Amino acid sequence: MNQLHRTKELQQQTAEWLSAPSSIHLSNIELLRDILRWHEYRYYVQNDPLISDAEYDRLYTILQKFELEHPEIITPDSPTQRVGVGLANDFAKVEHLVPMLSLENSYNAADLLDWERKALELSALDSIEYCVEPKFDGASISLIYENDLLSRSATRGDGTVGDDITLNTKQIKSVPLSAKFSSYGIEQIEIRGEVLINKKNFKAYNEKLMEEGIPPFANPRNAAAGSLRIKDTLVVSKRNLEVFLYHVSFSTSAAPHSETGTLIKQPKTHSGMLEMLWELGFRSPKNELKVVRGINGVIKYIEEFEEKRDGLPYEIDGMVVKVNDLQLQEKLGMTSHHPRWAIAFKFKARQATSKLLSVEFQVGRTGAVTPVAKIAAVLVGGVTVTSISIHNEEYIREKDLMLGDTILIERSGDVIPQIVKSFAELRTGEETNIEFPKNCPVCNHPLFKPAEEAVWRCININCTAQVVERIIHFVSKDAMDIKNFGEANVRKFYDSGLLKDVPDIYRLDFDKIGKMEGFGKKSIDNLQSAIEQSKSQPLHRLIFGLGIRYVGETTAKTLANSVTHLLDFKNFNEEQLLALEDVGVKVAGSIHRFFHDDDNLAMLQELEELGISLKNQKKQVADNDELAGQTFLFTGSLMQLKRTDAEEMVEKNGGKIVSGVSSKLNYLVVGEDAGSKLEKAKKIQSIKIINEEDFIKMLPK
Ligand code: IVH
Repeated sequence: MNQLHRTKELQQQTAEWLSAPSSIHLSNIELLRDILRWHEYRYYVQNDPLISDAEYDRLYTILQKFELEHPEIITPDSPTQRVGVGLANDFAKVEHLVPMLSLENSYNAADLLDWERKALELSALDSIEYCVEPKFDGASISLIYENDLLSRSATRGDGTVGDDITLNTKQIKSVPLSAKFSSYGIEQIEIRGEVLINKKNFKAYNEKLMEEGIPPFANPRNAAAGSLRIKDTLVVSKRNLEVFLYHVSFSTSAAPHSETGTLIKQPKTHSGMLEMLWELGFRSPKNELKVVRGINGVIKYIEEFEEKRDGLPYEIDGMVVKVNDLQLQEKLGMTSHHPRWAIAFKFKARQATSKLLSVEFQVGRTGAVTPVAKIAAVLVGGVTVTSISIHNEEYIREKDLMLGDTILIERSGDVIPQIVKSFAELRTGEETNIEFPKNCPVCNHPLFKPAEEAVWRCININCTAQVVERIIHFVSKDAMDIKNFGEANVRKFYDSGLLKDVPDIYRLDFDKIGKMEGFGKKSIDNLQSAIEQSKSQPLHRLIFGLGIRYVGETTAKTLANSVTHLLDFKNFNEEQLLALEDVGVKVAGSIHRFFHDDDNLAMLQELEELGISLKNQKKQVADNDELAGQTFLFTGSLMQLKRTDAEEMVEKNGGKIVSGVSSKLNYLVVGEDAGSKLEKAKKIQSIKIINEEDFIKMLPK
């Protein structure tokens, strides 16, 4: 029986082995591999893990140990064989078994009606059944399995010849290293699909790049394509690549032999093929596709799906309509460019062209001077864009940007707009180079560029721009979240001399503010109480608000959880900092410098004297105990609260956040588009399923 269908048995065995790992013997090794493969499948394909990461790691380590002691038992599809191969050589060029063609595009219902008319004519049929599925916006790949083992994977390349990226593809955990194609009588098969980086990982990765002063990727597609071409497989494995497999391009039948037993019949439709792939452990769009007869149903499904576009965890740029019957596909055949049996329907573009008019140079809170392109106003994905960061000199060179250029810009999802490229071929000769200033555009101090960095900096720490940006960051929503303060007030108070640096926020002279234009009693009261409330913000918000270089929200949380008082960091050496999760050499160095700088320490002391809590409240007692002893889990998108804020509220009130649905969970808080967690929770009676409103009502007023 296929391992994927042995759910009960594998879960039972997992539980036994987790409680008594010493009962695993060399003779159990293939079962242990099956168990690990199955948990990978639950996690990466089904998005519904049944054990924690730590539990998976425990079993994985046991397998690794057995294989280290008995190398002769290692199989090529063992879960250990994905990683640890180190540096890949240059990617060899390989010819595709079948050329990787692109699809014809359509943009509206009329295009689709036209396409159907031709297909009906060619096939001499009255109606056709279609399979409609998302058009994933990533990098296409080909996978070849021979005798049930993944034997080769390649990029699209020019469609005829691509790069052999087998080692990198093995880092994508939803790609099975082996699959029982033989049970369908298949000896060799080529499958096509799209490699993606989901929106959440893309955003986090880009934020990390920007924190390090490295220009971000313009879109998840470029990030995915770039990741497939990295030569260090360990780096590739950290990119969290995902895949959807959507097409079988070629297969050969196995020579019949007596031991094969009863063969499963090969599907005769495209949707059947995707079902087969799913059954064999691949992530195919089985749950996203729809089979419909007639183009009107296709159009309806496309409209329905486009509504969901923004809520999907990954980017799609349209839908693909395929003739479902494989025999009919063959009959319709190909033109020299694309198959006649499929057509892409493109959604509203999130790209647009514009003109680069001028460049302004802005000074950030770390003194980094960032060129910002002012562009002719253009509507992209529903938002008007007039300026775009162009990061640094190297980026300008790489993208070959000149003043006056026509440029292609993109705004994907909630990601900030980026320039994809310039059109050098459209230049008229009037374009001019972008000149970088030698002095700070705000304080005129000479700029400096550290040898190892791509960014020019103003190193005058009293530079007005930096001080103001530091304060704006401190009061911002993700940092101390001082409501009613905002950028405009920071600038006003700074200009009128009331605010010279961060601690002054807590010494504001409200009498003087009352005399300023636009400040009534109510707005002053609101501001005053927001400032007062911020004094007890959780420590990680204060740490993030301090704007220590390379310390984003995630690192701030790690840091906050590592101490009981912020000034404990005075006693941390770089090695101790490096031991913290996700803290690398650069980050550790920056934190160490910050907490060994007398001015910074004096500022922190000042803040404490002014009543700001430098304590880690989590390590102490919670503010309230309304939720004491209760466990919570959030699923789906919340409408009123940010997920991290909601989790923080649980902890502040004595409750606990758990990572998965189990009988240990008391409350599942369900937002929009909740998925498998909700389904699972419904099966456990003791779990209370509540919505966001109910949750808010549980909190103390
Ligand atoms: S089918 C021979 N299905 O779109 C037909 N393609 O312009 C093979 N793509 O190169 C392609 N999602 O990279 C197909 N569900 C889907 C797809 C898809 C994304 C990409 C693929 C292809 C391009 C076509």
